[in-house]
Amino acid sequence: MNFEEEANFVREMAIENNKFFGECLPMIASENILSPMCQEMLITDFHGRYAEGTPGQRYYQGCKYFDEVEKKGIELARKLFDAKYADIRPTSGTVANMAVFKALTKPGDKVTVLDTADGAHISFGKWGAAGLRGVELHTYPFDDERMNIDIDGAAKVIREVEPKVALFGQSVFLFPTPLKELAEVAHEVGAMVFYDAAHVLGLIAGGKFQQPLKEGADVMTGSTHKTLPGPQGGMILANKTREEEKYVRQLDWGVFPGVTSSYHLHHVAAKAIAFAEHLAFGKEYAEQIVRNAKKLAEELYNMGFDVLGANHGFTESHQILFKVGEKKGGWAAEELEKAGIIANMNMVPGDEHPLYPSGIRLGVQELTRLGMKEAEMEEVAKFFKRVLVDGEDSGNVRKDVVKFKSNYRHIHYCFHEGEDPYAFHELIK
Ligand SMILES: Cc1ncc(COP(=O)(O)O)c(C=O)c1O
Repeated sequence: MNFEEEANFVREMAIENNKFFGECLPMIASENILSPMCQEMLITDFHGRYAEGTPGQRYYQGCKYFDEVEKKGIELARKLFDAKYADIRPTSGTVANMAVFKALTKPGDKVTVLDTADGAHISFGKWGAAGLRGVELHTYPFDDERMNIDIDGAAKVIREVEPKVALFGQSVFLFPTPLKELAEVAHEVGAMVFYDAAHVLGLIAGGKFQQPLKEGADVMTGSTHKTLPGPQGGMILANKTREEEKYVRQLDWGVFPGVTSSYHLHHVAAKAIAFAEHLAFGKEYAEQIVRNAKKLAEELYNMGFDVLGANHGFTESHQILFKVGEKKGGWAAEELEKAGIIANMNMVPGDEHPLYPSGIRLGVQELTRLGMKEAEMEEVAKFFKRVLVDGEDSGNVRKDVVKFKSNYRHIHYCFHEGEDPYAFHELIK
């Protein structure tokens, strides 16, 4: 077997993937594109290095430049979230959640969460990080009409269960959590309040979503590659210092040695740049994301789509959720992909099986980063109608999608604006 051919095959697939996404409308709510400065960090020598511990307290030599990078990243993260404590080592949002579970709970402790069917992430479920820690899960009721936690019901659950940790935050996250009220109840019964901001981290930093650390969250985690458009990764934030609170020191240990060894130093460098870029452009970016999401939701609704949250302005985030018919989410997502629109099937209230859901979830954060505004959302909505309402041949629609997308191949809201984020940077000549 010719192994160079095998290697070339992989490279060829990566080139094709860049081309594919360059021609598509990428609308998965958890994804984004990297700025040129962030991209550059991913191929630096940091990639191959180790740095266990914290800046200045290392188990390996050779960290003098990386220590400066991590210190700068922490400083920028604290500024971005107005937080006293930031840990930017977790290699993903899930890893950050695992570290928090490890720090704040012991096996058998009670944790209150939303059900995954109501929009919670798998890491809050018994099959995910929560299950791995062996905590006992109790779920909050959900208000389907408001597409939010049922506040009175959740308060009752917290009072009855008296959990060690009350956990909030969602993967389907249209509206802010009633956090102030529920954090107060949680604190009354002695629970720690943990807010998972994975999806909405960039909106929070841009001042366009709730401010969990000011509304009672003791700990906040997030992914650094969704609405906060950095490299794949995670982070942990808190508003107390290590010196002030033991639980903050436990967060440190939760990350290392808890759930990481080395922690992808090239990603940490790219995170630091992403924080600086978000400090410079995040407010404007977050505002446009929410305007675009509202506009697209409204257009789809006016075209006859069953968009959830209709009585409450559809959305306050980057996301939109609409029903396509019982168990038809998978079919719709496939038809959209054939037309060059990348979205995911999603459970909607009332669905029972994640493999046979009735909805489609959309996110507009990547289209926004490509410079699209409200006028473009009108055009995007028309593509959805042609595929899912008019039943037009997807291949036909795709031709128009490719043409439309060719005008939006420049990255915005970052330093070195205007570069093509889908370019394949060939190192091998
Ligand atoms: C609420 C929530 N938490 C955690 C995660 C996990 O993040 P990551 O993919 O960075 O592990 C997600 C992923 O989408 C999420 O929606």
